[in-house]
Amino acid sequence: MTAWIAEVPTHGSVELPPDPHALDALGRNHSLETALADLVDNSVDAGAGNVLIRFIRNEGRLIGLYVVDDGKGMTPEGIDTAMTLGGRRAYDNSDLGRFGIGLKAASFSQAESLTVLSRASGHPAVGRRWLHEQDRTTFHCDLVPAEFAETELGRPWPFSTSTSGTVIRWDRVAGFPAVEDSQQVTTFLTRSVEHLRGHLGLMFHRLLAAGRVRIMIDAEDITAGTGVPTEVTPIDPFGYPKPALGWPRTLIADSPRGPLKIVCHLWPRKSNAVEYRLPGGAENRQGLYFYRHDRLLHAGGWEGIHAPDKKLQLARASVDIDGDLAGMFVMNPEKSRVTAGADFAPAVTAARADDGTTMSDYLRAAEEMWSTSNQRATAQRRAVIPPGKGLNPKVVREILDELPQLPADSLNILWAKFDSDDFFEVDRATQTLRLNNRYRAAILGGRRGGLNDVPLLKATLFLLVENVFQGAHLGARDKDNIELWQNILTAAARAELASHVGRS
Ligand SMILES: Nc1ncnc2c1ncn2[C@@H]1O[C@H](COP(=O)(O)OP(=O)(O)OP(=O)(O)O)[C@@H](O)[C@H]1O
Ligand SMILES: [Mg+2]
Repeated sequence: MTAWIAEVPTHGSVELPPDPHALDALGRNHSLETALADLVDNSVDAGAGNVLIRFIRNEGRLIGLYVVDDGKGMTPEGIDTAMTLGGRRAYDNSDLGRFGIGLKAASFSQAESLTVLSRASGHPAVGRRWLHEQDRTTFHCDLVPAEFAETELGRPWPFSTSTSGTVIRWDRVAGFPAVEDSQQVTTFLTRSVEHLRGHLGLMFHRLLAAGRVRIMIDAEDITAGTGVPTEVTPIDPFGYPKPALGWPRTLIADSPRGPLKIVCHLWPRKSNAVEYRLPGGAENRQGLYFYRHDRLLHAGGWEGIHAPDKKLQLARASVDIDGDLAGMFVMNPEKSRVTAGADFAPAVTAARADDGTTMSDYLRAAEEMWSTSNQRATAQRRAVIPPGKGLNPKVVREILDELPQLPADSLNILWAKFDSDDFFEVDRATQTLRLNNRYRAAILGGRRGGLNDVPLLKATLFLLVENVFQGAHLGARDKDNIELWQNILTAAARAELASHVGRS
């Protein structure tokens, strides 16, 4: 056995600065939305009242992006720390910043070139630039002339940056479409703005609702001018119109790091409101919502407390991880995910509300709320014949979800050859609504037919005629309705045919 030497011996040291390629590894988990949220964090920390995200186009192409704020800006010394990887400052206990890498990691995850132009009150404007792919062996940052910084800060932004403010400029953004096709770029832009509004509206909902910051998004065509900005509005995942009776309840657990508070909310029922649906879909947004300094970091998931379950989708609980509690959690550098440490699960198990409610009581209540609210909604509705052949499976699923069903053979809606011009035929013997093939091509309007074709028309017909398939025989009222629909729908079908023939 070799003797254990407690101290490792050394003989001098060698300097090993990080290879600049280390930059490549940064921000790999960023999307455009999370990267921009990281820049908004910096603006919020700088006390900005206004933030603008501006896409820059040149005719067809997207060529760059700005994030501008009217916060306190950076001094000529401050900007060098800001550009330094891991350059940290003294953080307040309400600051969103933490690692000293956000600006660089977020920017290089999306763009080849990062330019920062800033002015602190009473100081001259300053500018710096980092190029991602510069062939370098050192970490030299480019100096940008003060006049250029002045010019960029002085562009016509929707708010003033003349006292203080910061302009972050991205050039050569990898995620932008490289095409010149104006239509495609417009589609990309519309979609990006929509995603951004969803993501930022959710992540910053508390700060936006409290009026601490306004976030605007617009696009400027350098040859044609600036479009109208859209404002990011708060999306509160707990924004139900009326709370469920007896909820929310706050569960508290003592942990070695201080009291852990879990505010357990229940949506009274599923809803079409954007606050319920949320980007990513309500079903994926059940569970825990972690906030740090009022910024939402992580929206949903059970962190091992429970598996995701359709029946738990009304349950959303918020946890504020401020102060000493922060040690219980690990936040990824992109600030888009929080992982709970080993002491979280026992704390959750131990947590109780004033009235003794536990986490498992909460989950049980959530399941109950889901099934009763669903039953209540559907039970009040008139039962229908189950949908059968000819209807799109998604339509069938929705009908089954929304309406109680009669114990009867299912109703088919199928095309058939008719001798007459009638648009449809009710065949109660086979529980089939037949549609006249004559009109099929006109209604398809060039699309391909199939068993489940024209879902919109068939769903509408299902809702309209399903009732006449109920009961032992056709009543006088049913017969009159069938005649009425036949006259009107046949006229409509003929009109479809005429306009189709007219076109081809
Ligand atoms: N918009 C801005 N206005 C004023 N100062 C800024 C702005 N953006 C960045 N800074 C300065 O640059 C520094 C570095 O920003 P960066 O995002 O890289 O790190 P951080 O915010 O300190 O920490 P984190 O990595 O957690 O984001 C900030 O601490 C801040 O001093
Ligand atoms: Mg930051």
